[in-house]
Amino acid sequence: MSHSMHTHTCGELREANIGEEVTLTGWVWHRRDHGGLIFVDLRDRTGVTQLEFDPEVCDEATFHEAETIRSEWPILVSGIVRERPEGQDNDKLATGAIEVYVTQIKVLNTSKTPPFQIEDHVDTAEDLRLRYRYLDLRRPKMTQSLKLRSDFTFALREAFHGSDFMEVETPSLFKSTPEGARDFLVPSRMQPGHFYALPQSPQLLKELLMVGGVERYYQIAKCFRDEDLRKDRQPEFTQVDVEMSFVTQDDVMGALEQVFAEAFGKMGVEMQLPLRRIGYWDAMDTYGIDKPDTRYGMTLHDVTSIFSASKFKLFATAAATEGQYVKAINAKGAGRWPRARVDRLADVAAEFGAKGLAYIAFREDGSVTSPIVKFFSDEEMAALRTEMDVEPGDLVMFAAADRLRADEILGGMRCHMAGELDVPREGHDFLWVVNFPLFHWDEDRKCLDSEHQPFTQPNEDELGLLDTDPLAMGSHTMDFVMDGYEAGGGGMRVHDAKLQERILEKLGFTPERARAQFGFLMSALEFGAPPMGGFALGLDRVCMLLAGADNIREVMAFPKTASGSDLMSAAPSEVTGTQLKEVSLRLL
Ligand code: AMO
Ligand code: AMP
Repeated sequence: MSHSMHTHTCGELREANIGEEVTLTGWVWHRRDHGGLIFVDLRDRTGVTQLEFDPEVCDEATFHEAETIRSEWPILVSGIVRERPEGQDNDKLATGAIEVYVTQIKVLNTSKTPPFQIEDHVDTAEDLRLRYRYLDLRRPKMTQSLKLRSDFTFALREAFHGSDFMEVETPSLFKSTPEGARDFLVPSRMQPGHFYALPQSPQLLKELLMVGGVERYYQIAKCFRDEDLRKDRQPEFTQVDVEMSFVTQDDVMGALEQVFAEAFGKMGVEMQLPLRRIGYWDAMDTYGIDKPDTRYGMTLHDVTSIFSASKFKLFATAAATEGQYVKAINAKGAGRWPRARVDRLADVAAEFGAKGLAYIAFREDGSVTSPIVKFFSDEEMAALRTEMDVEPGDLVMFAAADRLRADEILGGMRCHMAGELDVPREGHDFLWVVNFPLFHWDEDRKCLDSEHQPFTQPNEDELGLLDTDPLAMGSHTMDFVMDGYEAGGGGMRVHDAKLQERILEKLGFTPERARAQFGFLMSALEFGAPPMGGFALGLDRVCMLLAGADNIREVMAFPKTASGSDLMSAAPSEVTGTQLKEVSLRLL
């Protein structure tokens, strides 16, 4: 039973149905009048079927109705499935071998002319699409994206369930959790002057579930972060959140790999297990980024030693300075670019923090274009050619800076050049980046900050460094990287209250502030908290990559704009004085 007004969907009918009497519902997509005959493409979420209205088959009233219907009217039709006449097949359509000869029509509603065409290939301003999202969602591509997301979510649920995970819901009205972004606050009516915070993630709650004995938890969880938006960031997004107890990091990664392989497999994406693991510093040294796309090379090379005695002062000085490096990448093909275009790359590099971008363009005719090559000796050039595997048409770019800065500049340029040069990136690329530093230095606040989060378990053999050299400490962490995006992250947690206290102290929390903010966690750790670890997959990001979209808004039904607005409902919006008074608030 279809429990629907129709007998078949618009994507369903095939040659095997020829001769059957069917009823279809959907929207009028295109209507063509062919002198005496009317053709209509009827569309629903599954596809399109061609309808034919022939006055010799249907009665006069039906034919007249067919003359009045317009784009985006919802209709119901009944008729006979017929083979399309010789030569009229449409092999671009799944239903292209047949058409429905309509005998009856019922107009279910009319429609105003939509503000944009409901077509995949039409370029409509995104603001307009978002304002009329319900129309935008009718576009086949959007419908397919939502379906893909639904299928992938279902596949994940099945895989987790099959691996003995339990789905547990956690509250949205909770307390501020430190994931590094600003909280969305919700004022309490019953407790004037007090606020809930919408969770940035269920991090603390899932740790408490482990203390509570749940052992293997997952949840498709809504998370809220008040941060500046980018194409892969929304203020409200979905995590596939996971936590396990009585496990090692290898157990967590192994369990996740199994779930991923199964769920991605159902989406037709083969995953070779075990996934590759790269240490954080290896990723930085080689790719200049902690979420490398390894489908192409253009890796970073340390060329510091080549220039230790160089006449080019900038490089020689860097080589002689502790902690400074000269690094280079080779963008094959860009050596053919005109000089002006190469020179403009310095502006791109500046966005990644570069003060300049020294380069050598190796021309096809054997000559070079470069602002710096005049300073180089023959030996330096020869060593550089070997190290960078130089061929005609190559563009070698340099960064002289401290380690992380040089990596960031060239890592950024590597991604930029891959885009500019349209470097082939076929299939999907999965890997783990592991062992992130426990801390980094926050230059603005002049204090240590967590690289992942304050509850991350440090590497046990490095605990001695906590008081002497905390920046040198690594941690039990892993990011899941897909196609050059951070698709997920997690790690093992501190389950010892004393160690947690010491780490929070390093992060600048006084014992009082730590107790006020995470007292409930600290006290739970004192009641036999088990070893635990977990992970969260960014569902929107993964769906974006699976759908081949370049923005997570394309896989969200009702996303927000860069300024955090919902253009359809005009949220956020003002509220009445009464509403404010109820929650004891007055506007500044
Ligand atoms: P993290 O903060 O790394 O970890 O988030 C996990 C994953 O969520 C996705 N993500 C986002 N997606 C869309 N819009 C956003 N604003 C956004 N922010 C994050 C990313 C990211 O990899 N509690 C920890 C996980 C853990 O340790 O178990 C956490 O939230 O894909
Ligand atoms: P200058 O000696 O300042 O004229 O710089 C010579 C070349 O080196 C120019 O092409 C600059 O863009 C480039 N350059 C300047 N600073 C750096 C740096 N830190 N790393 C790499 N190239 C640089």
